[in-house]
Amino acid sequence: MNGSEDEQQLVYTVLVTGANSGLGFSTCCRLIDEFLHSRPQTQSLHLLVTTRSTSKNKDTQTRLHAHLQKTLLKADKGTPGISKVLASRIKISGEQVDLCNLRSVKELGKRLLDRGDRLDVLICNAGIGGWKGLNWPSAIWAILTDWRHACTYPTYKLGFVGAVAAQEGDETAPDQQLGEVFTANVFGHYILAHELSPLMKGGGSKEPGRIIWISSIEAYAHAFDAEDVQALKSDAAYESSKRLTDLLVLTSELPSTKMSTTAFLQEADKQQKPKMFLAHPGVCATSIADLPLVLWYAMLLAQYIARWLGSPWHPVSSYLGAVSSVWLSLAPFSSLSTQELTEGKAKWASSTDVFGNERVVRTEVGGWGWGGKVGEKADGKMRLSANRWRGQEDVTKESREEFEVLGQRVWRDMEKLRETWEDKLEA
Ligand SMILES: NC(=O)c1ccc[n+]([C@@H]2O[C@H](COP(=O)([O-])OP(=O)(O)OC[C@H]3O[C@@H](n4cnc5c(N)ncnc54)[C@H](OP(=O)(O)O)[C@@H]3O)[C@@H](O)[C@H]2O)c1
Repeated sequence: MNGSEDEQQLVYTVLVTGANSGLGFSTCCRLIDEFLHSRPQTQSLHLLVTTRSTSKNKDTQTRLHAHLQKTLLKADKGTPGISKVLASRIKISGEQVDLCNLRSVKELGKRLLDRGDRLDVLICNAGIGGWKGLNWPSAIWAILTDWRHACTYPTYKLGFVGAVAAQEGDETAPDQQLGEVFTANVFGHYILAHELSPLMKGGGSKEPGRIIWISSIEAYAHAFDAEDVQALKSDAAYESSKRLTDLLVLTSELPSTKMSTTAFLQEADKQQKPKMFLAHPGVCATSIADLPLVLWYAMLLAQYIARWLGSPWHPVSSYLGAVSSVWLSLAPFSSLSTQELTEGKAKWASSTDVFGNERVVRTEVGGWGWGGKVGEKADGKMRLSANRWRGQEDVTKESREEFEVLGQRVWRDMEKLRETWEDKLEA
């Protein structure tokens, strides 16, 4: 191995989309902190942050450098002078991408491919809610009568129906439009992951790259309709996009989806394709709920009360909410693979106890359970039975089979859609 190859291996590159606010920004802060403490001194972190504009990117990098300085100051208090060594281990750079604009996604992919640097982790964090407001009487009633459940599984959000992201050409033509929430949350990332997968291969001394998808506790099975993958006819486009994310990732290693995933991840001989992981942050107070300041603080208080009432799904702070995706980014690859191999592929959640002590736990997914195994019960999995969505049913042989069949179908549909749009963009 020559010198430059050796050097490259010591740089661990993580790309985070939507890094300028909420969970994206906190994920970057947490990556810096945990990388410096958990990885050997010989390794450095290259944090590649994407935003929608150059000004947001500049501002994000400035704030991340300020965070790094704080971390270094703390380290210096423990071991005087250590900050110089630590500072040289973090590099932050930026890129622009609008995930609703597939041309912009392809261009980012091309820029990074042309550069040819290895990518170890892609965190598909950016996302939108697509909500126009709340049904206030219903919200107040639900929260006052059923606080913990209503703050975890809200039924009072009002979503836009039929919102589209217009692509280039005749923007009013239906064949130049895609579901907005679907594209921001899933399809833009889907194209990006496909484009970047050649930079994320494993083989030789390199472990496969990790593609981490951010889902939600609200990824209800009933919100997704396979006949309307883009959720254009639904008023729950957000929940639909998150259920689609769950279906794609949890079935990504099954033999039944292999044909689609091989094409999607551009698998080639003797190279290991990147591995997809699924995470969700629990419920956190961020700007995704676009509320006036006073109401935002009311939401913050309501979320803390839900935690104090025993909800394990209320990290509230986005730094705590980032624990699952950062763990999936930095934990030894072999230990993650072994856990998913022995106990089944999981939706890894950020969770806290009543005092805000964080932990990463498996989350129940409709039709899949905690690891795709029939017969698992909620009991014993950290009191989750008490915090389960009320419509949730135990996994049966039939529901597990249905989940896999649906997974196979959405993989096929997504691959078809990717090919269609790649042809359009090339033309
Ligand atoms: N907050 C929660 O409780 C919660 C719970 C479950 C899951 N999540 C998930 O966590 C992720 C982050 O959400 P958040 O709560 O941190 O929300 P947020 O503070 O609103 O951050 C969303 C980020 O995504 C970016 N973004 C939105 N549309 C984009 C597009 N078309 N192209 C590129 N970037 C785009 C935003 O950029 P701009 O600033 O330019 O708009 C922003 O940086 C989302 O996937 C969300 O679904 C959040």
